[in-house]
Amino acid sequence: MTSDHATNLSSDSLEARARRHLWLHFTRMSSYQGNDVPVIVRGSGQYVYDTRGRRYLDGLSGLFVSQIGHGRAEVAEAGARQAAELAYFPLWSYAHPRAIELAERLAALAPGDLNRVFFTTSGSEAVESAWKMAKQYFKTIGQPGRFKVLSREIAYHGTSMGALAVTGLPGIKTPFEPLPPGGVRVPNTNFYRAPGFVGDDVTAFGRWAADEIERAILREGPDSVAAVYLEPVQNSGGCFPPPPGYFPRVREICDRYGVLLVSDEVICAFGRLGYYFGSQRYGYQPDVITFAKGVTSGYAPLGGMMVSDRLMEPFSDGPATFLHGITFAGHPVSAAVALANLDVFEKEDLLGNVRANEAAFRATLEKLTDLPIVGDVRGDGYFYGIEMVKEKTTRNRNGCCAASCRTPCTTPG
Ligand SMILES: Cc1ncc(COP(=O)(O)O)c(C=O)c1O
Repeated sequence: MTSDHATNLSSDSLEARARRHLWLHFTRMSSYQGNDVPVIVRGSGQYVYDTRGRRYLDGLSGLFVSQIGHGRAEVAEAGARQAAELAYFPLWSYAHPRAIELAERLAALAPGDLNRVFFTTSGSEAVESAWKMAKQYFKTIGQPGRFKVLSREIAYHGTSMGALAVTGLPGIKTPFEPLPPGGVRVPNTNFYRAPGFVGDDVTAFGRWAADEIERAILREGPDSVAAVYLEPVQNSGGCFPPPPGYFPRVREICDRYGVLLVSDEVICAFGRLGYYFGSQRYGYQPDVITFAKGVTSGYAPLGGMMVSDRLMEPFSDGPATFLHGITFAGHPVSAAVALANLDVFEKEDLLGNVRANEAAFRATLEKLTDLPIVGDVRGDGYFYGIEMVKEKTTRNRNGCCAASCRTPCTTPG
């Protein structure tokens, strides 16, 4: 942090007002009773600045959002122009030009035949929309019993009630039980904490983890399972890339039991892994992709799901109406901003930049494994996790586990 950018905002007053009126997300508010709330007032490139002019490196890109960096005037101006032309109109029975252009552009970028875009305003809404779509799709094609969704232990898929039922973090679910029924957990791909019998062979581990999905489908009853939600690289738990062979095997299992593969790319799309979509990096074809965050680089809120031609068919050719909608979904300003954001991706070859630099990035991070508290460095693209441990030989972390800590962990974080 440096103090070279003073602002003329009164920090005391903003901080006091934040303490009095603002409810911060996932934050113990009482911890601010005697402390300042950090107030970020502006951003430029990879830096943000607080009320006191201190500069911070935005290492998390906001929340995996700010792909093109802060302070891009051309993207902000695209939003302003759109607000002046048509600030708002819903996508309920009507369309507007920017939503059409963006849907077409995303369809061209997405893998395979994911040609239809249903916009939302957030990732949670995207995840929940995909579940609702899956349920209605199966009812429409005469498989009304399919409603369950499989997802991985400690995976984060959002916080609204439906998305929370897909989320695999027990700690953030308990206060809101009972949640919508149908969420089923399967193991994640944390090889560092793989069970002992596959702990030395990453391919065998991947095969086991994928086969656990099949076992869960059989246990639950294949006719009751609608979808499997997987991130290309799981964020929560600290960045779990897929082991070799994992996604091809999952695809095979989904096809065998008629279960939809939903690739939750709220984090992994739009450059995080050096591709527009994370599934492209690992070469698998999802039935649905959910996205948000990097689609606008945070210059306006937007999310959505992209679905395959096959899933769309009952809705495009038959009498079925997807009985779902969100007032601000596909907002014209957000759509205009997303188009300008994608222009920056193209002009500056951001995907190529990630791919060209990821090896150097990884090599630098791997130097940290010299430290006695760094147990593992893992990830792909511009998406890495560093797992810190108390003791390297046992992989023990915080005293949360007993002597040996190689079993899949269910402790959040
Ligand atoms: C994989 C994944 N899915 C869904 C969500 C929820 O997105 P939002 O916070 O926009 O609702 C997130 C948020 O971080 C996420 O990482």
